[in-house]
Amino acid sequence: MEGGVFRLKGKEISLISILVMSATILIWSWKKTPLLTAFVPPQTQLRLSPETLSNVSEEEATSKINVEARKNDDVASAVSLTEVKGKGQQIEGEKYSNQEEHGKDLAAPTDSPPRISSSSGHDTVNLKNHTENKACNYAKGKWVPDNNRPLYSGFGCKQWLSGMWACRLTQRTDFAYEKLRWQPKECRMEEFEGSKFLRRMQSKTLAFVGDSLGRQQFQSLMCMITGGEETHDVEDVGEEYGMVLVHGATRPSGWAYRFPSTNTTILYYWSAILCDVEPLDRTNPDTDYAMHLDRPSAFLVQYLHKFDVLVLNTGHHWNRGKLNTNRWVMHVGGVPNTDRKIAMIGGAKNLTIYSIASWVNSQLPKYPGLKAFFRTISPRHFVGGDWNTGGSCDNTTPMSVGKEISTDESSDPVVAGAVQGTGVKLLDITAVSQLRDEAHMSRFSITAKPGVQDCLHWCLPGVPDAWNEILFAQI
Ligand SMILES: *[C@@H]1O[C@H](CO)[C@@H](O)[C@H](O)[C@H]1NC(C)=O
Ligand SMILES: *[C@@H]1O[C@H](CO)[C@@H](O)[C@H](O)[C@H]1NC(C)=O
Ligand SMILES: *[C@@H]1O[C@H](CO)[C@@H](O)[C@H](O)[C@H]1NC(C)=O
Ligand SMILES: *[C@@H]1O[C@H](CO)[C@@H](O)[C@H](O)[C@H]1NC(C)=O
Repeated sequence: MEGGVFRLKGKEISLISILVMSATILIWSWKKTPLLTAFVPPQTQLRLSPETLSNVSEEEATSKINVEARKNDDVASAVSLTEVKGKGQQIEGEKYSNQEEHGKDLAAPTDSPPRISSSSGHDTVNLKNHTENKACNYAKGKWVPDNNRPLYSGFGCKQWLSGMWACRLTQRTDFAYEKLRWQPKECRMEEFEGSKFLRRMQSKTLAFVGDSLGRQQFQSLMCMITGGEETHDVEDVGEEYGMVLVHGATRPSGWAYRFPSTNTTILYYWSAILCDVEPLDRTNPDTDYAMHLDRPSAFLVQYLHKFDVLVLNTGHHWNRGKLNTNRWVMHVGGVPNTDRKIAMIGGAKNLTIYSIASWVNSQLPKYPGLKAFFRTISPRHFVGGDWNTGGSCDNTTPMSVGKEISTDESSDPVVAGAVQGTGVKLLDITAVSQLRDEAHMSRFSITAKPGVQDCLHWCLPGVPDAWNEILFAQI
């Protein structure tokens, strides 16, 4: 009997110690194993909640935008006087080529300056681990010299990189701008590797939709994936996305390529203002076009279901000059706009950006695998004038030296405001790029007219590579 009791007690004791050990292991692995953190609410959602994303008051955002609208209207009317009217263009792609070839894409400022603080001098990076990584703000940090940059040679990548953006092929002789890397302050940023990118994007499609700055990001990514080496096993799948060369056009409306090794598709579609543009009279070659401010581009509606990653951008085509040249007439709710606030360029742009973000958000439940990003505006750096009044960007020493972005607030309050509270993520590159005034095409642009500098587009390799590194870290 007694012996039995003791045996039972012995069993109880070992049971208890097993329980204690299991609990210890469980607690320990809860802390260590990223798998278990799957039960914790995703930090990305937390980050997008209104409290944490952007701390711009409504008044502040509004006054910023109104100032911007007035500024744009002024600049734009000047622009419209100098711009030659385009011939009746049928598709967005044609409009694109006509404008860009003549360097008109440089028009009108729409960016606001970032708040920059000087680095406090300490170089220790507060690295966080994977779960926190998703929630960290990649826009905070600084540019650091790095001999492992650029990620591809500016002499190479002729397969994907337009000659007009390949600064190594121009008269430019300073290339220090190629040797900087963006170092986020609070998050570990995984080193970009083409093979790693392709594996992660196995049987997936990444789409850039936006203006020429989106096209720069697309070309940059193609070069980053291939390391700038010529590859012959990349398929042109533009036809799958209706990107065909229409009669009379110099370029298709976009490009789509597939890497057969991993069945990964990367595409870019030209949609400068992201909203739907529709001819008012299909039979008239000189027709005006309805720009439906509150409707997404037909391309997005038609193909969204095929995308796994979407990167939207817009900004530099929102000015009177572009509207007049393209004969775009603002429409809201399917009828010509009569709201005076929306008739201001800033109001129209705001309405479209909010409408697109909200529409994409409304589609997310249907496509739970879709990661949609709205890229913030790429800043311009014209000094001493605008693109058409002698503005220049001649610095060769970056103003980024010793500077650090330390604010949580985005320098693009419109895009930040539009994605706030939605499932659309912010790809915040405005303040990051604002530090890089030395990295534009500047006077070496081969497409700009003599005396005109391009302080809008970037040399490649260059700043858009960093946008893709920040994107890669989030997919
Ligand atoms: C926003 O900023 C103001 C002033 O900088 C601060 O008082 C307020 O607590 C901030 N709000 C949030 C939600 O961060
Ligand atoms: C932009 O649009 C949003 C959504 O309609 C609105 O809440 C906000 O006030 C607008 N901002 C401006 C400056 O028009
Ligand atoms: C993750 O971060 C937390 C808090 O910073 C830290 O305590 C933990 O050790 C980290 N885990 C790993 C695996 O790095
Ligand atoms: C390639 O990816 C697409 C989705 O993007 C998928 O539908 C298709 O089945 C894949 N093909 C192969 C051969 O894996």
